[in-house]
Amino acid sequence: MSAAQMLYPLQAQVVEVIHESTTIFTLRLKLLDDAARTQYRFRPGQFNMLYLFGVGEVPISIVSDPEDEQLIDHTIRIVGRVTAGLAQLQPGDQLGLRGPFGTGWPLLQAEQRDLVIITGGLGCAPVVAAINFALKRREKFGHICVVQGVKHSNDLIWGDMYARWRQLPDVQVLLAADQAGQGWPFHQGRITELLDQLQADLPAAVAMVCGPEGLMLAAANQLIAQGQPPGQIFLSLERNMQCAVGHCGHCQFGADFICHHGPIFSYPDIAPRLCVEGV
Ligand SMILES: Cc1cc2nc3c(=O)[nH]c(=O)nc-3n(C[C@H](O)[C@H](O)[C@H](O)COP(=O)(O)OP(=O)(O)OC[C@H]3O[C@@H](n4cnc5c(N)ncnc54)[C@H](O)[C@@H]3O)c2cc1C
Ligand code: FES
Repeated sequence: MSAAQMLYPLQAQVVEVIHESTTIFTLRLKLLDDAARTQYRFRPGQFNMLYLFGVGEVPISIVSDPEDEQLIDHTIRIVGRVTAGLAQLQPGDQLGLRGPFGTGWPLLQAEQRDLVIITGGLGCAPVVAAINFALKRREKFGHICVVQGVKHSNDLIWGDMYARWRQLPDVQVLLAADQAGQGWPFHQGRITELLDQLQADLPAAVAMVCGPEGLMLAAANQLIAQGQPPGQIFLSLERNMQCAVGHCGHCQFGADFICHHGPIFSYPDIAPRLCVEGV
């Protein structure tokens, strides 16, 4: 990525808006400049800074396939000013895009191993690109186990995608909701209660975990208790961000800046700092 690409937003155009639920939507974006579009490359797990002109800029994970050279997808939950403004965009509207930033998931290290992917809430967004990446290169990976937890069964997005993945050979999908509405056919309770069903060779597998810090800590501890080496567990962290290039300090996490050294960290590198107030 060039220095200019890191500091100055590229012009992007909304090609499609997909409404995933009342508060969650996917923006499919296309870079307007042909050269920038050709040069733009990302790894699953990286994020962009999306700039809504006159409102502000927010970090959002990239969920599309790294080989799609035309469209860059972002799935966004409305929580405040910028995300609510992004939700108003229509096909043809323009916005600014800086990136990609951050570290990606360790997909090279994960080759020829089972993958365990654990997500909570919208935590799914940063791992969707990794799952699609592995599914497209099926011969390079072992069994793929996807575990997704939501607070309420109504919060589950991408239900069709889970149903599709569940039909694939060597793919296990486990879903849980803390509170279940009528007709919820999956587990009611915490996702950690599902981990003893994992069909993965945990001592060799690579785990990618995403979601609220408490959930990630509980999931990592449970995997370790079941025999997974801590160094094979990777977590994606979130903090408020401004510059995304390691200068402003907004995303400081102890000795690290999440935008630059993260957002993906190996568990032993950050375990003592997880869920610690003030870090
Ligand atoms: C690396 C990274 C990747 C992300 N990927 C996605 C994604 O794929 N999809 C998505 O919907 N969101 C993602 N986020 C979170 C997203 O950036 C925030 O929701 C967004 O910045 C909120 O901006 P806002 O102006 O709408 O809300 P604001 O008005 O700034 O905030 C509304 C509320 O949300 C809280 N908040 C704001 N930012 C964060 C944050 N980063 N973490 C926790 N709480 C926050 C504020 O404290 C406040 O309570 C990601 C964040 C990071 C750091
Ligand atoms: S956002 Fe500025 S240092 Fe990370």
